[in-house]
Amino acid sequence: MEPLANINGVSLPLSEAKVSALDRGFLFGDAVYEVLRVYGGKPWLEDEHFRRFERSLAAIRITGVDVGRLRQRMHETIRAGDFREATTYIQVTRGAAPRGHAFPAGTVPLEFLYVQEFRDPYAAAREQGAAVVTQPDIRWDRCDVKSTNLLANVLAMQAAKEAGGVEALLYLPDGTLTEGTHTSFFGVLHGTVLTAPNSNAILPGITRGLVLRLAARAGVPVREHVLRRDDLGQVSELFLTGTTSEVLPVTSVDGRPVGDGRPGPVARRLQEAYRQAVREFVGG
Ligand code: PDD
Repeated sequence: MEPLANINGVSLPLSEAKVSALDRGFLFGDAVYEVLRVYGGKPWLEDEHFRRFERSLAAIRITGVDVGRLRQRMHETIRAGDFREATTYIQVTRGAAPRGHAFPAGTVPLEFLYVQEFRDPYAAAREQGAAVVTQPDIRWDRCDVKSTNLLANVLAMQAAKEAGGVEALLYLPDGTLTEGTHTSFFGVLHGTVLTAPNSNAILPGITRGLVLRLAARAGVPVREHVLRRDDLGQVSELFLTGTTSEVLPVTSVDGRPVGDGRPGPVARRLQEAYRQAVREFVGG
């Protein structure tokens, strides 16, 4: 099935979608986005994603976007392509205008989305575990905003790929581990699941939030607390979470095994809880 797009209310195949070369998303990265997973034809954690999207729009002061209408277009696009297992990408830019840094007057935001079939690139890694590398976090001070300015993430991910990893864990100059380039991450230290507290240093991951709830429900001790690079030698487990990666066990960091080098029991339990939640969502 060909990916289907919608630009400002016009639906068309993604390959035919075009935007102005003066669009501020293209020129300045003056844009915010969301990625949702569709399971069994239904968008997963939709309210949470759209709440975060509204927060991102407000944070960069893009006004005049009817998010409810965008949501409607997303549903229509999923239905039009009869997508079952898919991802939805949604991006709003400040629109097209002659180039100048300050906000242009009277520009209409560009509302773009597309839906495409999901062919799971993480299936094997989810079973066997994944290798990651650490990289310095050179991003800006508002990583809580889901902005399309992803150059630092792109460079760190490329470094991970060249080192044979599926993700880079980012660390600040004081050694604090923040998150992955496109995932949140968790560690198990002395039997407690730890993940960085929400702040301007990380994206408030939607999957992260769900996994915190699932862990609490399963009686797994959890705490929002930062991990440092120095802790990596002591953690018994590490795992990543994200819309497409779900719960992804990490079995080595910078070439050194995590715990016994195999996916651990906490990650396995949370993977099962996640799959169960999806089964209930699809069946319900
Ligand atoms: N990435 N941290 C960063 C920097 C991210 O870009 C993402 C998501 C996450 C995980 O968030 P969530 O659980 O809401 O997907 C954490 C998306 C999927 C992307 O850029 O493709």
